[in-house]
Amino acid sequence: MNSKSLTRGEVMEQKEVAPSHFEMRLRLPLSFTDPLPGQFVMIQSAGHKEPLLARPLSVYGFSRLAEHSVLELLYRIAGEGTALLSRLRPGDPLTVLGPLGTGFSPPRGMKRALFIAGGVGVAPLTYLLSRVIAGVDPWQGLSNVFYLGAKTADLLPGLDRLAQGCDLRICTDDGSRGTRGLVTDLLAEEIAGYAPRETTVFACGPGPMIRSLGGLLADRSFVCQVSLEERMACGLGACLGCAIAIRNGQGAPTYQRVCKDGPVFQLQLIVDARPAGA
Ligand code: FES
Repeated sequence: MNSKSLTRGEVMEQKEVAPSHFEMRLRLPLSFTDPLPGQFVMIQSAGHKEPLLARPLSVYGFSRLAEHSVLELLYRIAGEGTALLSRLRPGDPLTVLGPLGTGFSPPRGMKRALFIAGGVGVAPLTYLLSRVIAGVDPWQGLSNVFYLGAKTADLLPGLDRLAQGCDLRICTDDGSRGTRGLVTDLLAEEIAGYAPRETTVFACGPGPMIRSLGGLLADRSFVCQVSLEERMACGLGACLGCAIAIRNGQGAPTYQRVCKDGPVFQLQLIVDARPAGA
């Protein structure tokens, strides 16, 4: 089976972990390829009578048991497709295409990982963190600080997975948990404490957070890898519906597909992640 196989599975568990946020566990055959941190799957209900486009979701967790694999996903209801997904119950069949896309790259010679997550952007970074904490090759030996932002305290799903093994800094827009304000504002206050030569930044979150991060790091030499959350249709690089502008080696913008060439890109190369006029 190659990494782009269509795999049939079924829902093991589905629970609402925050308002409109769902955590889903899927039972898949052992033949399913181990996802790399940062990769995603296209998931589709296999038994639904209405046509339903497959939804791209980042891998939140993955494990192998004696007789099957368990794929974990975290998603927010953002339309009819995810609303339908949220109504699936244990035993309902699903098809999973993937793992797809590029993953995060292990940093060479780095001692520290900074994770910057907003909203359900926490999903791929939680999976990456689990690899770092477990010391899975090639992710061993990194200390880590996890900056997590949300609008309010009740929109912070998955805190139990971050409670151990990382230095967790929470920000909420209204101050209902952690520091009041944006996660990038807190990072701006603390960034001087991190040495760029020893630190790699991993980020995933909504567009405004990514642009704010782009501004913050524009004149700093941190390596920053960003997983972009973009709407996708085919997920396979065929429809070009997810194209974004990326600077090439000469600094000129070229178009790349988030689903095929990403979803992980170097932040400093993303044209839209630069401050206006830069
Ligand atoms: Fe079709 Fe990316 S979703 S090319």
